[in-house]
Amino acid sequence: MPVNTPEPGSAGLHSVIAKRWSPREFSRRPVDPAQLRSLFEAARWSPSCFNEQPWRFVVATQERPDQFARLLSLLAEKNQAWAKDAWVIGFTAARKTFTQNGLPNRFAMHDTGAAGVSLAAEATARNLYVHLMGGFDAERARTEFAVPDDFEIGASFVVGHLKDGASSPVARSRKPLSELVFDGAWGNPAEI
Ligand SMILES: Cc1cc2nc3c(=O)[nH]c(=O)nc-3n(C[C@H](O)[C@H](O)[C@H](O)COP(=O)(O)O)c2cc1C
Repeated sequence: MPVNTPEPGSAGLHSVIAKRWSPREFSRRPVDPAQLRSLFEAARWSPSCFNEQPWRFVVATQERPDQFARLLSLLAEKNQAWAKDAWVIGFTAARKTFTQNGLPNRFAMHDTGAAGVSLAAEATARNLYVHLMGGFDAERARTEFAVPDDFEIGASFVVGHLKDGASSPVARSRKPLSELVFDGAWGNPAEI
């Protein structure tokens, strides 16, 4: 069962982990292009099986209102309501096969998720915020942006500055480590 836990900072975690959360209040303040590029550099340097780098990102900023609107329209309405204010919007996709031999890469989405976390960590270090979303029309994303069949659509996301005076996260909860980390047998809480 999820439990209310103290803020992650209290576990002594590094600030790039402790300070990350998923806001629903963004400012329309532009993200500096060099900073934005650094986020994707961080994703680029993520680990991946056979160094396949299966991740791809389709993105737009508010600087291109037409492109931003196209991506925003893919989101579920409840996500659109707040995502519209973020400076950057996009979605991820993962190449399902290895380039070298065409065999299935069962780690493709795993590694694409890892790249997303690298991006979020770099964002947090730069006082930027990322919010990932599964609530979007992945099939329409495929058609609209001509995503090839060999790629699986991942998650949508926004990146931006937090709105001034935005409320801090409330009642964040996490499963206890005893439900997540095992030792000796499945389900047996590890003594860590
Ligand atoms: C793959 C994925 C899909 C998500 N989908 C949505 C979504 O559609 N709408 C939303 O508001 N939040 C969405 N979230 C955000 C989660 O609800 C959030 O990460 C979780 O509650 C933990 O909160 P935190 O990120 O603030 O720690 C999604 C997160 C992930 C990783």
